[in-house]
Amino acid sequence: MADFAPKSIVVTGGCGFIGSNFVRHVVREYPEVRVTVLDKLTYAGNPENIAGLPSDRVELVVGDICDAELLERIVPDHDAIVHFAAESHNDNSIADPEPFLRTNVEGTYHLLEACRKHDIRFHHVSTDEVYGDLALDDPTRFTEETPYKPSSPYSSTKAASDMLVRAWVRTYGVRATISNCSNNYGPYQHVEKFIPRQITNILCGIRPKLYGDGLNVRDWIHTEDHSSAVWTILAKGRIGETYLIGADGERNNITVLQDILRAMGEPEDAFDWVKDRPGHDRRYAIDSSKLRRELGWRPRYTDFSEGIEKTVQWYRDNEGWWRPAKEATEAKYAKQGQ
Ligand code: NAD
Ligand code: TYD
Repeated sequence: MADFAPKSIVVTGGCGFIGSNFVRHVVREYPEVRVTVLDKLTYAGNPENIAGLPSDRVELVVGDICDAELLERIVPDHDAIVHFAAESHNDNSIADPEPFLRTNVEGTYHLLEACRKHDIRFHHVSTDEVYGDLALDDPTRFTEETPYKPSSPYSSTKAASDMLVRAWVRTYGVRATISNCSNNYGPYQHVEKFIPRQITNILCGIRPKLYGDGLNVRDWIHTEDHSSAVWTILAKGRIGETYLIGADGERNNITVLQDILRAMGEPEDAFDWVKDRPGHDRRYAIDSSKLRRELGWRPRYTDFSEGIEKTVQWYRDNEGWWRPAKEATEAKYAKQGQ
């Protein structure tokens, strides 16, 4: 069957970390595609993330995915929606879950309804965190068949949104796919997240902060590989299917922090232990063989130490981008004892 080749797409959350990297990827790789970014510009959304892209290719609409009337105006003109918009940070979801329910669950519902009404292709971007966690010594990894067992308010709302997508495919025949990806890193990631927080702490003369015993494992993937995987699924994925996205990047937090410290010329013990996150997932690990086997996707940015060095350099070069959010983010963490 010929690949699906959309000419115009809506990218929700296209001013956030992964969404904006995806928009840049599409503009660079697919010159025939026009992008409408729909973004509410919450604390995590920044129009700077897509600044400089050609205005005849990318249009920003500032608005809420829960606004059904707005969706009715925007969506019908497009071939597909790629849905990144979310409240995305676990620590925030623990402090205040309400916005997570609204954006992640209700917002996905409204987008599905718009796709149902106008027969628009939908790709839902989700997370491996819907599967809960694995023990450090568990020989298995997550697959598309792993039962859902989310731990946090964040991951439970993402799990709920995945279930809505599955139901809309089965009941209404919405042409949708789902991807569940592991932890992303790269440029334009908000300073609340682990890797940018530690890099920018060091740049500010603040000691990095490690939760718990530092042995929690995340399966790191460069955001550019996430973008190529999402496009592959949009173009070649089978309707109704879920694909796990990962790049075999398992590492515990202390090792990641030591990579950062080394890349920045700091001693390996120059960090503080802080209070653990309640319900902290121990380990995530992705088996992405279905995506590789069926759709021929491969990650390209697999040298993690090199990726970290480049990411450190990006934060060094873009202080004007992250500085405005830094103080408020650290004040929030300080209040939580972290
Ligand atoms: P982010 O927090 O950096 O960006 C989220 C974006 O969504 C922001 O631009 C924000 O303004 C926008 N947004 C929030 N609520 C909105 C609303 N109601 N209407 C319109 N726009 C709204 O998030 P991210 O890290 O880029 O994650 C993007 C997606 O990828 C999320 O769905 C997340 O669950 C998923 N994901 C993230 C990771 C990761 O490591 N960060 C891993 C796997 C999956
Ligand atoms: P995070 O970037 O919040 O992603 P997620 O919770 O989605 O995995 O955190 C990644 C890991 O780093 C997680 O195990 C929590 C830990 N962590 C710290 O040790 N210190 C920090 O300052 C932060 C923000 C996270």
